[in-house]
Amino acid sequence: MLRARIISTGSYVPENVVTNTDLEQIVDTSDEWIIERTGIRERRIVDGNQATSDLACEAALKALKNADVKARDIDLIIVATISGDMPFPSTACFLQQKLGAKKAAAFDLNAACSGFLYGLHIANSLIKSGAHKKILLVGAEVLSKFTDWSDRTTCVLFGDGAGAVLLEGTKEKCGIYSTHIYSDGSLSDLISLPGGGSKYPCSKETILKRLHFMKMKGNETFKVAVRTLEELASRTLEENSLDPSQLSLLIPHQANLRIIQATAKRLGLSTEKVFINIEKYGNTSSASIPIAIDEAVQSGKCREGEYILLEAFGGGLTWASALIRW
Ligand code: UT7
Repeated sequence: MLRARIISTGSYVPENVVTNTDLEQIVDTSDEWIIERTGIRERRIVDGNQATSDLACEAALKALKNADVKARDIDLIIVATISGDMPFPSTACFLQQKLGAKKAAAFDLNAACSGFLYGLHIANSLIKSGAHKKILLVGAEVLSKFTDWSDRTTCVLFGDGAGAVLLEGTKEKCGIYSTHIYSDGSLSDLISLPGGGSKYPCSKETILKRLHFMKMKGNETFKVAVRTLEELASRTLEENSLDPSQLSLLIPHQANLRIIQATAKRLGLSTEKVFINIEKYGNTSSASIPIAIDEAVQSGKCREGEYILLEAFGGGLTWASALIRW
């Protein structure tokens, strides 16, 4: 059976580190509160000149180098992002130009923090159908430019970064075994960036109301996320007839350490089977899972033949999972 497999990974985070102590200088918060409630110690923030496609390009170049693949061999580029360079053209088209991937079609995908796994679902389907052979899937965000740095309930949470994977078909036992994507638009007001679209186009009023920044009802989101992800993780394993004990690694979206721990507890996974890097980067939305996969690969945690579970939850609401055999 043909399925897609990740043949290489790459990631990039900006050099500039912003610690919790730095944030204590600009909003009424504390290092202790942020660590206790979220697990975040620091995050990376771009300098003024970097846009999302710049981060995406750095991550993609590493993935190409690691697979020894030329950009001209890619036939599709998907960029999962909610903080693209411009409303249009797509960030994927800017990336296509930067890489010189002349034969690739390119489009963006918006499923907020679940974007990378939505992208994996699409890439897997397109490879299985034979429509595409070599797909570059990138999750990239510059959320710092959409963050209200006077709002302590959101500004401590997010960070910038990008992760990329190259996918191609395989008939071996490795690859993507299943992907699962879901949404519930009735809870769209829990996380959003209201301004700048056709509903609230940019005006003096939308600027004064700070509608061009991310808004989140954190505690309500937290409760739905814990409930949804615990259930999703168990169901994904059941659908693959796997027991949690057969899982080697859980790579979750890095939104909140307490959410990650709740899912791990429900599955009975020990700490060493859960990949966590939220302390270094905060929540990088659609970039968080591909950055984590790349770091897991670099540190030898993705071993051939082993089962890895990916799961994410985010604005929309959207949620998604994937079961991979490495
Ligand atoms: O990636 C997409 C999905 N995103 C998520 O899944 C994120 C889900 N939500 C969360 O991670 C958590 O809800 C937060 C970390 C955002 C907040 O943690 P919480 O335990 O839910 O806190 P809370 O919102 O209930 O706020 C508790 C208190 C409040 O004060 P009062 O009303 O009890 O006096 C907040 O005003 O903490 C206060 N607070 C802060 N205090 C210090 C909120 N933000 C801060 C802050 N520093 N940065």
